[in-house]
Amino acid sequence: MIEFRTLREIERAARSKIDDHAWDWLECGAENELTLQRNRQAFERVALRPRIFRDVSHVDLTTQVAGLNLPVPIMVCPLGGLTIYDDGGEEAVARSITEIGSILCVSAMARLKLSDLSQVLPP
Ligand SMILES: Cc1cc2nc3c(=O)[nH]c(=O)nc-3n(C[C@H](O)[C@H](O)[C@H](O)COP(=O)(O)O)c2cc1C
Repeated sequence: MIEFRTLREIERAARSKIDDHAWDWLECGAENELTLQRNRQAFERVALRPRIFRDVSHVDLTTQVAGLNLPVPIMVCPLGGLTIYDDGGEEAVARSITEIGSILCVSAMARLKLSDLSQVLPP
């Protein structure tokens, strides 16, 4: 299994497997890409401080979003066109986020309909 240490490493590995058209769709932002720039700047401001010799036997990442308790602060935003990366891409993303018990926003451009998803996802 490949181990990645940074987001850049993941991005480079993905870039080598995706053709130019699909990469542009994934990488570009809307309109003048201001939100994309601001998101990058916000993430770059976050510093992770390595802590050693701490008891990590119980790590609690739970959080609340819109009154829902989530196990991790990760949700999936609406993503259309996932099938250009993998035919089962929409189902794989939906299954992964459902397995960790978090929120999936289904894109209006998704190929799978909500009724299809309810067939393939755990209740
Ligand atoms: C490949 C890709 C596909 C997307 N498809 C949709 C979509 O179908 N509908 C939509 O409302 N937003 C879509 N978005 C926008 C995202 O849902 C998200 O709002 C955007 O990446 C900005 O993230 P933020 O909301 O955290 O700022 C897409 C983004 C990407 C990268």
